[in-house]
This record gives sequence, C-alpha cells and structure tokens, in this order.
Amino acid sequence: MPRISTSLLIKAYRENSLLPLLLRECRSLTSARNELRWLRERALHDSQSASRLTKGSLFGWRTRLRSMCQRRSKGVPLQYILGDQPFGDLEIICRRGVLIPRSDTESFTVQAAKTVRQMALEHMHDNQAPQMEKPLRVLDLCTGTGCIALLLHTLLAPQFKDLMILGVDISDNALNLARTNLEYNLRQGLLSNDALTQVHFQRADVLNRGLGAGLTVKEALEQHFNGLGGKSEPHSALGLDLLISNPPYISTVDFRNGTTSRSVRRFEPELALVPPATSKSAILEGCNPEDIFYHHILTLSLQSVAKTTVLECGDIMQARRVVAMHKKMISHKSGYFDTQIWPSSERDLAENGFHHSDGARCVIITRRDNV
Ligand SMILES: C[S@@+](CC[C@H](N)C(=O)[O-])C[C@H]1O[C@@H](n2cnc3c(N)ncnc32)[C@H](O)[C@@H]1O
Repeated sequence: MPRISTSLLIKAYRENSLLPLLLRECRSLTSARNELRWLRERALHDSQSASRLTKGSLFGWRTRLRSMCQRRSKGVPLQYILGDQPFGDLEIICRRGVLIPRSDTESFTVQAAKTVRQMALEHMHDNQAPQMEKPLRVLDLCTGTGCIALLLHTLLAPQFKDLMILGVDISDNALNLARTNLEYNLRQGLLSNDALTQVHFQRADVLNRGLGAGLTVKEALEQHFNGLGGKSEPHSALGLDLLISNPPYISTVDFRNGTTSRSVRRFEPELALVPPATSKSAILEGCNPEDIFYHHILTLSLQSVAKTTVLECGDIMQARRVVAMHKKMISHKSGYFDTQIWPSSERDLAENGFHHSDGARCVIITRRDNV
C-alpha cells in the first residue's frame, strides 16, 4: 500500500485532528471527511441515547468519536464500527464474524427480483396481476446477514402476496444476525409485517458434508417448504421460483496474495469468503476449488427445478466457468435454459456502477420450459 504523503497528513490534521487517523484506510481526504461525518453523527446519536437513559448531558461523545476513529485506523471496517449498512431500503445490522453486505450484491438482488417478476408476467393471462397457484418460493443459500432474503421480501411482496423465503447458512452467528435483522427491520417499519411469517432462516450445509452441520439443504427444503404447502410433491419437483446465492468464491491464493484487502482479510470471516481448501468433491467434479459451491448449487437448482437461478461470482472469468459448468451438467432431459452474465451490456454496467472488465458479476439462469 503506498504511503500517505506528509503534506496530505498535515493538511488533514489542520482541518481536523481526527482526519489523519481515517486517512490510513480511506486513502483520500474526501472519503476521510465523509467517514468522519458518519462517525460523528453516530457518536452523537449514541451519546444522546445514553444521556436520555441516564438523564445526563451529552458528555462523552468526543471520547466515543476518537475511539471509533482509532479503531478505524487499525483497519476495522466502517460497518462494524457504525453497526449497520444500508441495503436497498433496509438497514442491515453488521457484526464481526458475519460478512458485510456489498453494493454489488444489492444490484444482483434487484436484478433477480426483476427477472422473477418478468417470468411471472410471461405466464400472466389477460393482463391480470401475476396469479400463482402455489406460493412464490425463494431459496437464498449462504444467507449471511440475511440481506438478500430480506431485500427480496421488500421487492417481491407488493406483487406476490403468497411468498415463502428461506435463507440458509452453516454459521450460527450468521443465522442469529439474520433473524435479528428481520426483527429490527420489522420494528423500523422497513419490512411489511408479512415478513415475520414469510421469511425463515435455517442452518444447513450447502456442501452436504455430513459434518454434524445439521441438515443438508435438501432436508431443509423438504422440512420448510413441505410444511408450508407442498406436502404431496415429489422431492424432484419442488419447483423453486428463485434460487439465489452469494457463496464463498475466493481462492486460497487470492485471499493471501494481496488481491483481497487487508481489512477484509483481518476482520471479515474467512468461512464467508474462501471455500474449504481440501475439497475432495472439487477434485472429483474437475472444477477449481474456489468454484465448488457453484457445483453443489447448480446440482440443487436442477434437482429442485428452479425457474430462476442467480449466482454471484467474483469476476467475469469465474462467471464464464459457472456458465460452462451448467452447460456440462444439463442434458435434453433437464429442460431448456437461457443463461446470461449480468451486467454485460454497456448500459447495465454504467447504470449499476460496475467496471466494464473488473469486479463481481452474476450468472442468471432461467428455465424456458413450463414446469
Ligand atoms: C459471501 S458470504 C454471503 C453472505 C450474504 N449472502 C451476503 O451476500 O452478504 C457467504 C456465506 O456462506 C456461509 N457458508 C460458508 N460455508 C457454508 C456452507 N458449507 N453451507 C452453508 N453456508 C455456508 C458463510 O457463513 C457466509 O455467511
């Protein structure tokens, strides 16, 4: 990391003695100023809440602010200090041990909801609102804070009154936080009351390793969706409307060689970022170890006859590997599919703030046969 020039540090210090602390992570004065503003607002807010409780004065907010800036100078992500991150219209609570939601993931979630609505409109008759005989079933694998599952509820609930969303993760920390996020956003009025009964979080292992990690995803699906309306359906015809996932996808090499930022490496959970190193199934399936989650998720997508599958990938190369993997896995018996990497058109890239050749992409797979 290049060193910050002394002249910039002096300029920052003259403006505010806390700015040099933030410059270390922010790298530019503009972004350090923004962070200082957010941190000051939070320190004041916290002190106000505390003083209301103790009926005391606002004493202490400066000490609180200084301590926040010191944590930031050690590389602690801003969201862990502030305690939350906006995600669409939601406020997602962030805690150490669970990955912080990213803005790319928010864009992929919005695009996934658009695709689901479009699919429903294609099956719509006589210009009526989308009519579904069954509830709209959504599965979010590797749910983390629950950000994708919860945002999908806000995006889909206005059109689909009968909605079932299941978020799955292997980490109890993540699942507890996802449930907290559901309750918190309900209390804030950012989620409709239906979310309480329509969104659930469940522990399961996407890699099906039988490590005492609880249920397999298939078992979780059976338990959850069968209990809510699909009792007589054979397992192979679960008919998910959307299977979405942002799985761990970084290679061990990229995690250690500096491609992944120091702050992410030191403070965010490796479990959320890097698939297990010695994945025998990756070798068996002939895929790169960092792609192993996609193999398991695509298998499940085919078995559960998912109408739409949306998978976040680290970059365009990984997205192409996922498309090739899917192509290899399907046969004429599996059905007909449209597969695209999003965003890829100049317009989608620009409108959604993506770099034209760098950064995350998602693969969107839609079934074209009627199931
Ligand atoms: C990249 S994070 C995504 C979190 C969240 N969906 C988001 O987009 O911010 C991946 C998540 O996968 C979970 N995970 C890791 N291994 C898993 C496994 N074998 N089965 C289920 N979840 C797993 C991690 O706990 C983590 O929460």
